[in-house]
Amino acid sequence: MDFKIIAIDGPTGVGKSTIARKLAEKLGCLYVDTGAMFRCLALCWGKYGCPESDDSLQELGDQTRIVFKHNNVICNGKDVTDEIRTELISSLASKISSFSSIREVMKKQQRTLVEEVRKSESCLGAVLEGRDIGTVVFPDAKFKFYFDASPEKRAKRRMLQLQERGENANFEKILTALRKRDFQDQNRKVAPLKPAEDALIVDTGNMSADQVLEHLAACIGGEKNVS
Ligand code: DC
Repeated sequence: MDFKIIAIDGPTGVGKSTIARKLAEKLGCLYVDTGAMFRCLALCWGKYGCPESDDSLQELGDQTRIVFKHNNVICNGKDVTDEIRTELISSLASKISSFSSIREVMKKQQRTLVEEVRKSESCLGAVLEGRDIGTVVFPDAKFKFYFDASPEKRAKRRMLQLQERGENANFEKILTALRKRDFQDQNRKVAPLKPAEDALIVDTGNMSADQVLEHLAACIGGEKNVS
């Protein structure tokens, strides 16, 4: 059977992680949360006061080892699964992701992760979610999806998630932060967030997670032309 690469791109809060993880489980694929990788770099970057020279960024990228272990994110040997989910890290990750040297390092690491499982035949494929998977990291991926939903719907979803975790959640603040990240992600010079020309656009705003999952599984299972 062919090793499948499935790319899921889209803006923040659109439901990529939930679906990508479930889809990978269902299909026996590796799941790669590329946003978590940028978040790990942001965490390390913040600790050094956010230096912006090419040399420091290159060094930071080369020295940061990121591994996914049973749904946990391990950065340089430390479990940072929760630490990388704060609003501060979200904002730093969006900032650091605009540097071309950082994007090159990430692209290489993401391709290596996939190549390793392809060679070891430990998975039937890979589901990667992020902002530039279908456009830059795996432009030849067989299946490309671009999730979208209005900023209001995404902010509401985020608010409910925070409330469920017993955290403070202010809709207006969440919406403002989300719009700011959308702007940064869509307007950076290198690999900006945009749908690949051959991606299938999925409006997740009015669909439940199960509906989205079923829709994707049907496209992949039936090998429908998804462009
Ligand atoms: O998906 P996320 O919210 O965890 O991603 C955090 C930030 O990382 C996001 O604002 C932009 C950046 N990112 C990116 O530039 N390219 C990716 N493939 C994934 C994330």
